Amino acid sequence: MSTDSTPLQSSAVINEAVQTLRDGGLVAFPTETVYGLGADARNPEAINKIFSTKGRPANHPLIVHLAAPDKFDQTQVDWVPLVAPWVRDLSEDALKLVNAFWPGPLTLVFKKDKSVLNKLTGGQDTVAIRAPAHPMAQELLRKFKGGVVAPSANRFGKVSPTSAADVRNEFEDILDLMILDGGDCELGIESTIIDMSSGDKAILLRPGVITPKEIFAKTGIKVYQAGETKHERHELALPRVSGSLRAHYAPNTPLRLYAPGRVLDALSEFPDTKSRVAVAVWDSESSLSEDGHPSVHFEEVEVPSDSSGFANRLYRSLRDLDQQGWDLILFPEPPPGEEWDGVRDRLQRACFGSGPSSSSQDSN
Ligand code: TXA
Ligand code: MG
Repeated sequence: MSTDSTPLQSSAVINEAVQTLRDGGLVAFPTETVYGLGADARNPEAINKIFSTKGRPANHPLIVHLAAPDKFDQTQVDWVPLVAPWVRDLSEDALKLVNAFWPGPLTLVFKKDKSVLNKLTGGQDTVAIRAPAHPMAQELLRKFKGGVVAPSANRFGKVSPTSAADVRNEFEDILDLMILDGGDCELGIESTIIDMSSGDKAILLRPGVITPKEIFAKTGIKVYQAGETKHERHELALPRVSGSLRAHYAPNTPLRLYAPGRVLDALSEFPDTKSRVAVAVWDSESSLSEDGHPSVHFEEVEVPSDSSGFANRLYRSLRDLDQQGWDLILFPEPPPGEEWDGVRDRLQRACFGSGPSSSSQDSN
C-alpha cells in the first residue's frame, strides 16, 4: 500500500491535529479512499464550518468516521460499543457487515441515535458511519477519541482529492487549513455506501471498490440496488447521497466518454480544427493513431485496464488533465461488470458536471 512507503507524519503533528479538532477546527486527512475534510462530529459550529468551507448544501448529510478497536487485527473484536452511541439499533446483518469489512472502504447507514446532530445528517433520521483503514486516519481517530465527520476534501461537486497537494490546491485560499500528508490514496474512489436503516434490506446507495458480489460472498447478505425495493422508492425524494446528483466529481474541462473504437464519434461534437483533445486509452490496447481525426490535435494518455488500477488513477488523471488546458478530455467507457460500477458511476457524473459552466449549474 502506497502509504507504507510515504513518511508517516510524526506523533506531534497528529497531536496538533487532534487539538485542532477539539478546538472546533478543520483537519484534512488521508483515508484509503480519498482525503477527507474532518471536524468534530459532536460540535455544531465545526459542522457549520465543513458545510461553508465546501460550499455544500445543508441537506447533504456527512459520514461519521470512527476509530477501530485497539486490536482490530485480532479475531474477536467488539465494534458494538463503538457504534452504539451513534445508532438506534444495530441489526444482525449490519453487524455482519461491520465485522467483515471494517476498518475499510464501506459506509453503513443506520437509524440515528437522538444525540446525533441534525446538522450532521442533513435533517434525516439516519446516520452514515465508517471506520477508515488508513493508518494515519486510524491514529488521528484513536487519539481524538470521538467521531469525526469527513466529507471528501473538495469543493462541492468537484473532483475528490487523492493527495495532500490536491487538498491544498482545492482550498488554496484557506491558508491555515491543517492537512495531514499520508501520501497518495490507495483506492482512489469513495467508499461503497449501503443503507441498513430499513431494518430488513441492504440497499446500495453508492457503488465503490467493495461490490455487492463481494459482500454476498463474505457475508451471505444480498445487496439491493437503490430503487429496486419499495422502501427505497418512496424515500428517493430526499437528496440522501450528494454523490447521487447527476453532476458531481467534475473537472472544469469538458469530459466525454467514447465507446470502444468510437473516438471519432466523440470528437464530432468538437469540430473546431484548433481543438486540443486528451484521449485516455486502455494501457492494454494499441495506439489510436490510425483512428486520427484530421482537424484536431490530440494526445493519448494511458489508463489502467484493470478496475482497481483505473480507480486508483481516475481522480489523479482528471485533476492533472484539467490543469493542462485541453479543450476536451475523452475517456473510454468502462466495460460491463460489477467491479467497474464504482468508476462508471463517478465518470458518468463527472461528464455530466464537466465544463467551465459546471460551477453555476443548479444541480451541482
Ligand atoms: O470514502 C469516503 O466515504 C470519503 C472519505 C473521506 O471517507 N468520504 C466521502 O464523504 O465520500 P462525502 O461527504 O463526500 O460523501 C458522503 C456521502 C454523501 O453522498 C452523503 O449524501 C452520503 O454519504 N450520506 C451521508 N449520510 C447519509 C445518510 N444518512 N443517508 C444516506 N446517505 C448519506
Ligand atoms: Mg464527496
